[in-house]
Amino acid sequence: MNRPASPSQSFAAAPRRFALIPAAGVGARMGAGIPKQYMTVAGKPMLRHALDTFAAHARIARTFVVVSAGDGWIDELLTPELARRATVLRVGGDTRQESVLNGLAAMRAGASIGDDDWVLVHDAARPGLNAELIDRLLDALEGDAVGGLLALPVVDTLKRAGGDARSLETVPRAGLWAAQTPQMFRYALLRRALDEASARGRIGAITDDASAIEMLGLQPRLVEGSPRNLKVTLAQDAALAEFFLKGQ
Ligand code: CTP
Ligand code: MG
Repeated sequence: MNRPASPSQSFAAAPRRFALIPAAGVGARMGAGIPKQYMTVAGKPMLRHALDTFAAHARIARTFVVVSAGDGWIDELLTPELARRATVLRVGGDTRQESVLNGLAAMRAGASIGDDDWVLVHDAARPGLNAELIDRLLDALEGDAVGGLLALPVVDTLKRAGGDARSLETVPRAGLWAAQTPQMFRYALLRRALDEASARGRIGAITDDASAIEMLGLQPRLVEGSPRNLKVTLAQDAALAEFFLKGQ
């Protein structure tokens, strides 16, 4: 008996999802004495929060973490259980985007990653990410041609300052969003976007992955994130992250 063709009988395998955590920064603005991703927040190092969240998520095939070549903390942080779900790449660069680009190249060397597989790039310094936010991003971008990122609509009234910290004008906040991570793009597209930004000498000017995609003329989808997913940058941010993590 002939069976009708169903949409599930497709030749291409469903794209897989990989997490890539750039964790090769020094945390200069934090000034903690150790790189901030290794600072303890709510009982464990910030990087462990992100690693544990991805490792426990059934829809994430594997997590890659990029650290600097001389990193002396990562081995201690990886439990044997985490080590089965996560791969350490000691290829950190001088900027976040170089660390991401190096990580993209290195992750393919060890795993069979397809051009259309998704990569979720997530800052090590955002310990508040949880499974619900990952699911929201994955669901919103299912089958999307470009990809996208978690972000929050701006609620504050914004001022543009002159050189002497006096307000020159009020900047309309309509349509403005604050970018968060994860930022989720197809492997080949993200690599091409960062490669081209790098070749044009613009890699130092971009601070997230989505801006490299925008330089290709594409428009990443904005998916509503959460205040709990803040980036810990300054000393006071650690207390706020702790508040969200302990209140969950
Ligand atoms: N990062 C990285 N490689 C770099 C710089 C940053 O992998 N050369 C990572 C950081 O470890 C962090 C994320 O990118 O997880 C976001 O960067 P940021 O918050 O700026 O962290 P740092 O660069 O460490 O902090 P600072 O800018 O204050 O030095
Ligand atoms: Mg930085």
